[in-house]
Amino acid sequence: MNNLIVFIGHVCPIDVEKNMKIQTLFLNTILILIPFSFSTLVSAQEEGKNLYEEACAACHSISDNSNITLSQRLKERAPTLFYAGNKFNPDWLENWLVNPKRLRPGGHFFLDNVIVTEDGDAIDESKLTEHIAVNAVQAKQLTEYLMAQTPKSDLIALESVTLGKANRALGEKDFHKFKGCGSCHQSEDGYGGVSAPELYSSMNRLQPAFISSYIRYPEKWDPKTLMPNRHLNESSIEKLLNYLNLITEQPE
Ligand code: HEC
Ligand code: HEC
Repeated sequence: MNNLIVFIGHVCPIDVEKNMKIQTLFLNTILILIPFSFSTLVSAQEEGKNLYEEACAACHSISDNSNITLSQRLKERAPTLFYAGNKFNPDWLENWLVNPKRLRPGGHFFLDNVIVTEDGDAIDESKLTEHIAVNAVQAKQLTEYLMAQTPKSDLIALESVTLGKANRALGEKDFHKFKGCGSCHQSEDGYGGVSAPELYSSMNRLQPAFISSYIRYPEKWDPKTLMPNRHLNESSIEKLLNYLNLITEQPE
């Protein structure tokens, strides 16, 4: 890095004295700013990586785990962070790490936490644990590191999402009755399935192109996902996205 700066300094011969001050000022600014921004970015990411290894790696994988067997998969303690940078909105991620709230009402693997009651299956809340929280500086460093994990950008590039209006009643019927999403996902706190992440914060939490792509190709994101590919056409996916946007922006 330093060599590069010296080199920049030497290829600009400065002959007019008046310009010299300006040029020197300009070069000094570059000299100061380039290494500064470069090194803070790299070190934030590196700090994030160290933190991940210390505090997160015991539960979360961050490399491609699509080839593991189903039994290994069921033993995993947390969702993969392999493609975090293709999935999360960075602002949401940073805030959530400081103040995490439950996303999967039944825990990471709901069957571990189900109890049979007279009214049907219920979640044994006593088995669910709180997610660890980090401080604001750590959250920033972790977010830099996690957002740099983008192995699935090719899938994201296939999507072009433009969000539009949705009709709440029709959207709800579509989500719960026609498309069956509500048997696994909640569309409001306490309404919907418990085996998958809630979707009433999805537009804040996730990148719209990720949502669209996961609905289109769940198995390309996760070959062992429990989510079925319903082979929906473009306009059905668009309607679902508009509905998810409505329930995120204007919860009932
Ligand atoms: C004891 C195990 C454990 C540790 C340690 C842990 N997590 Fe988690 N994490 C989980 C579980 C379980 C979930 C699923 C929570 C939910 O859905 O409510 C989760 C969810 C997440 C999510 C949301 C993932 C998604 O796909 O929805 C992120 C992001 C995350 N953790 C980041 C971290 C980071 C960063 C650390 C380290 C500072 C960490 N976790 C440490 C168990 C853990
Ligand atoms: C049989 C249960 C099931 C059904 C039905 C289902 N999903 Fe899923 N869905 C899942 C599971 C399991 C995941 C992955 C969860 C994880 O990462 O832990 C998922 C993930 C998602 C995600 C990504 C969310 C995230 O936080 O990673 C979106 C978006 C989504 N589903 C939308 C839908 C929509 C829309 C429908 C209806 C067309 C639907 N799902 C139907 C089980 C289901």
